[in-house]
Amino acid sequence: MIDERNISILKILQIKTMDTVLNFLENIAWWGWILIAIGTIAIRDILQRKHTITHNFPILGHLRYLFESIGPEMRQYFVANNREELPFNRIERGWIYASSKKENNYEGFGTDRDIYAHQHIFINNAMFPFKIGKDHPNIHDKTFLPCAKIMGEFNKRRKPYRPASIINVSAMSFGSLSAKAVESLNRGVKIAGGYHNTGEGGLSPYHSTGGDVIFHFGTGYFGVRDDDGNFSMEKMVQLVEENPFVRAIELKLSQGAKPGKGGVLPGAKITKEIAAIRGVGIGEDVLSPPNHKAFDTVSEMVDFIEEIAEKTGLPVGIKAAIGKLAQWEELASIMKETGKGPDFITVDGGEGGTGAAPPSFADHVSLPWVYSFSDLYKLFQRKELTDRIVFIGSGKLGFPAKAAMAFAMGADCINVAREALMSIGCIQAQVCHTNRCPSGVATQNKWLQRGIDIPLKSERLAQYFKTFRKELIEITHAAGYEHPCQFQMSDIDVNVDDRNLSQELDRTYHYIKNETPFNGQQALKDCEYLGGHYANKSTQ
Ligand SMILES: Cc1cc2nc3c(=O)[nH]c(=O)nc-3n(C[C@H](O)[C@H](O)[C@H](O)COP(=O)(O)O)c2cc1C
Repeated sequence: MIDERNISILKILQIKTMDTVLNFLENIAWWGWILIAIGTIAIRDILQRKHTITHNFPILGHLRYLFESIGPEMRQYFVANNREELPFNRIERGWIYASSKKENNYEGFGTDRDIYAHQHIFINNAMFPFKIGKDHPNIHDKTFLPCAKIMGEFNKRRKPYRPASIINVSAMSFGSLSAKAVESLNRGVKIAGGYHNTGEGGLSPYHSTGGDVIFHFGTGYFGVRDDDGNFSMEKMVQLVEENPFVRAIELKLSQGAKPGKGGVLPGAKITKEIAAIRGVGIGEDVLSPPNHKAFDTVSEMVDFIEEIAEKTGLPVGIKAAIGKLAQWEELASIMKETGKGPDFITVDGGEGGTGAAPPSFADHVSLPWVYSFSDLYKLFQRKELTDRIVFIGSGKLGFPAKAAMAFAMGADCINVAREALMSIGCIQAQVCHTNRCPSGVATQNKWLQRGIDIPLKSERLAQYFKTFRKELIEITHAAGYEHPCQFQMSDIDVNVDDRNLSQELDRTYHYIKNETPFNGQQALKDCEYLGGHYANKSTQ
């Protein structure tokens, strides 16, 4: 009896206390709640030891982290001037956005660029521009601009390939880019007649929607690897046989943003789909080592290239960032002696982009494009090998004047990565490595990808390529030529220093480009190996 009475009293007391507490809480004004929240955060700031600034300056210290996180956006939208930002400034980005939307991409009132700045380039115009005849291919299509060389012609590969566009999509894998971005790029190159380089992550269904493809692989051998992670020739042959739109193969030695640095693809990012495409286990960490397992020496690499070309019939090239030249000298000697070797070489500048790289590599390892390309071209020129190699340049070359300079130095084609991404909506948020790309381009987050409208974005990529080719053709005509392959080093000046501010490319980089054989745009149009929608399907 006594116990029951005590329990009832306790219950009544408990209810009364609860009522009092609730009444007290109800009577706290809204500003009282704010003070309590601030007080709690201040106590937490003082007690924590991880961040000195918030410990020493409770509450106020948080403003530093807030401003730091929104700083890049504030500078990009309000503070930075038109030519200030890197990697691509507002004028460059604006030109790509306007070109891809077929909007007015002109500038009013003259250049706002410091044309006396170091590395500024000038194209020497002719007194009279090149005059095109009435049946010239560019009368019917102002954007028609194929590569002047054929990949695999010298080495007599069974399926040579002439890219139908001198501008193409550079290596970027499905995994670093979203499925929707990859598909937009592929459908875009189909419309524009370019090729789409797969990047290291293997050939996905999103690379297979109709555009010409260059299958690219690195040390991870994704898509062409056996269960132990070794290169599998059987898989390579099968991939090429099953996918006739694969027109060439690129063996990656290195890229400008991180040469000699391997990579780890964390297991958490390896979905069922990515595992199947790359040929790896679901959820397991996958290593891309710095070195290839398939060869150790330069001559073994040449044998490897020849074997792939022989088994698949396709042209095979290499991609690399350039630094030391000794092994390249060795490659050139082997090519000269044996008559074998890569059909194309992609030279990636140290300014090149990446999905993720340590700044110590991105900022410092390998030479910028102009220095690396000129070193390499001279080396192959000394051995009289330039006519048998298609030279591809990449590293912020996706602008007509920059491309004209690259052609004058010996490039035959341009690959673009980040410029292509901007044409499909990338805003240069520079967060590719976080999986939080706000434009849905470089993320696997389904919600962020939802904003990408594939038909619209593929048209944009195509329009950017077409505008680029049209302006490059116009610049070429202004210099008195029909095709950019005719540009000579002496046609372009570059600002080198204060005493002798501007100097022709040949005097700056100390060589004269070899003449590229060229018999007019019509001959390129009639070529049986021309790719894109000009391709004769029976020869593929
Ligand atoms: C998101 C992203 C992913 C990339 N993935 C690869 C890759 O898989 N293999 C490779 O060789 N280069 C890769 N690159 C480098 C580009 O192919 C290209 O060489 C470089 O960005 C220079 O071109 P750009 O200045 O036009 O961007 C990647 C670049 C970006 C931005």
